[in-house]
Amino acid sequence: MVWWFYVPNIIFGEDALNDLEQLSGKKAFIVTDKVINSLGLAEKVCAILTNRQWEAAIWDDVEPDPKVSTVKAAAAAIKVFGADWIIAVGGGSVMDTAKAAWVLYEKPDIELQALTPFDELGLRAKAKLVCIPTTAGTGSEATKAIVIRDDETGRKFATINPELTPDIAILDPEFVVGLPKELTAYTGMDALTHAIEGYTSVWKNDFSDGSSLQAVKMVFEWLPKSVENLSDLEGREKMLVAACLAGMSFGNSQAALAHSLGHSMGSVLRTHHGMSVGMALPYAVEFNCIDNEDVAKQYSELAGIIGISGKDDKDTSMKFAGAIRELMTKIGSPQSFKEAGVKKKDFTAGLEKMVEFAMMDTSLTMNPRNTDSEELRKIYQYMFDGKVIDF
Ligand SMILES: NC(=O)c1ccc[n+]([C@@H]2O[C@H](COP(=O)([O-])OP(=O)(O)OC[C@H]3O[C@@H](n4cnc5c(N)ncnc54)[C@H](O)[C@@H]3O)[C@@H](O)[C@H]2O)c1
Ligand SMILES: [Fe+2]
Repeated sequence: MVWWFYVPNIIFGEDALNDLEQLSGKKAFIVTDKVINSLGLAEKVCAILTNRQWEAAIWDDVEPDPKVSTVKAAAAAIKVFGADWIIAVGGGSVMDTAKAAWVLYEKPDIELQALTPFDELGLRAKAKLVCIPTTAGTGSEATKAIVIRDDETGRKFATINPELTPDIAILDPEFVVGLPKELTAYTGMDALTHAIEGYTSVWKNDFSDGSSLQAVKMVFEWLPKSVENLSDLEGREKMLVAACLAGMSFGNSQAALAHSLGHSMGSVLRTHHGMSVGMALPYAVEFNCIDNEDVAKQYSELAGIIGISGKDDKDTSMKFAGAIRELMTKIGSPQSFKEAGVKKKDFTAGLEKMVEFAMMDTSLTMNPRNTDSEELRKIYQYMFDGKVIDF
């Protein structure tokens, strides 16, 4: 069978940003958010280009979990400016806004909610895209995916199209070094979830497998070190690489159950993406391995990479879920709704909406174990108290 593996050109390491000097073009539109702009990171990018007589503009109106209306505002600003390069400097919210705004800049009539993997967009007639991540988590700099929030319903929808793979990803640890402890932990859990779901999704392939194995190994080694020593550039660089590898994996295979649960938590309770999918991850591993020998074998292979074994694949998978919980304890990432500070009344009020949204989430299609709304409700209830899945 013919299959495809999409990745950008990747430049990584200390001072990777300087590679921007090689870019040829005239007008760069830099998409970012207010926090990152205030840290001077967008300005650093701008300075390299304007020193070489480019025209550059900074647009910093992205909010966390961007809405369709934000994307439209970005696209309108790019149109007025007339960019030949769009440069995203930020976390997943900024990168996804830039990717989606790029689509609307090139094809104003496209409706983002209706975008499919099979649409021939003809992107790059007007501009190309550089992504410079400032979180080591989403891997959006390496994926053909975008996650945007519907203004009316608040539901986050994910969509993919191969043409959305950025042209260039620049992984420079200086851009991540200011990320606070909590966000370092949460975004790192997002990367781990991508690596594990990419390895077990029904669209897995040999290229995504290789990327996932290395990403899992690196996250277990470097995420605790990174959280402990926020200013260590080596740890930051390793986590940037791990997150990008994990993005290459799931971007070419797909995310699964933990993402459908996490996207829906984020839509209803407005919890951070990485915190949400990370919280769901051990429960998803337990749920999947109970009923599916093939996926239990795959989790065992991942467990082997970090030196864990058990009496059979299912036992090893359950121990692997335990190792994920231990990692979360080390880095301070919540393992239950309770630990995340979600009140029982808010959880109960949002539960049915979360189940409904999780059932609609495209990631669920790629999960190795089929499920239904009754089981999803039960998983959420176990997640409230932090109970190990036993069904
Ligand atoms: N397209 C994909 O492939 C993909 C994959 C996973 C997640 N996502 C999406 O990405 C979004 C989450 O992205 P995220 O986790 O990177 O967070 P984010 O981009 O939403 O940023 C979270 C917060 O961190 C701040 N921040 C970012 N970098 C910083 C830095 N270096 N220093 C200080 N503060 C910094 C931001 O200003 C923001 O307030 C969600 O919408 C999620 O659904 C997309
Ligand atoms: Fe994610």
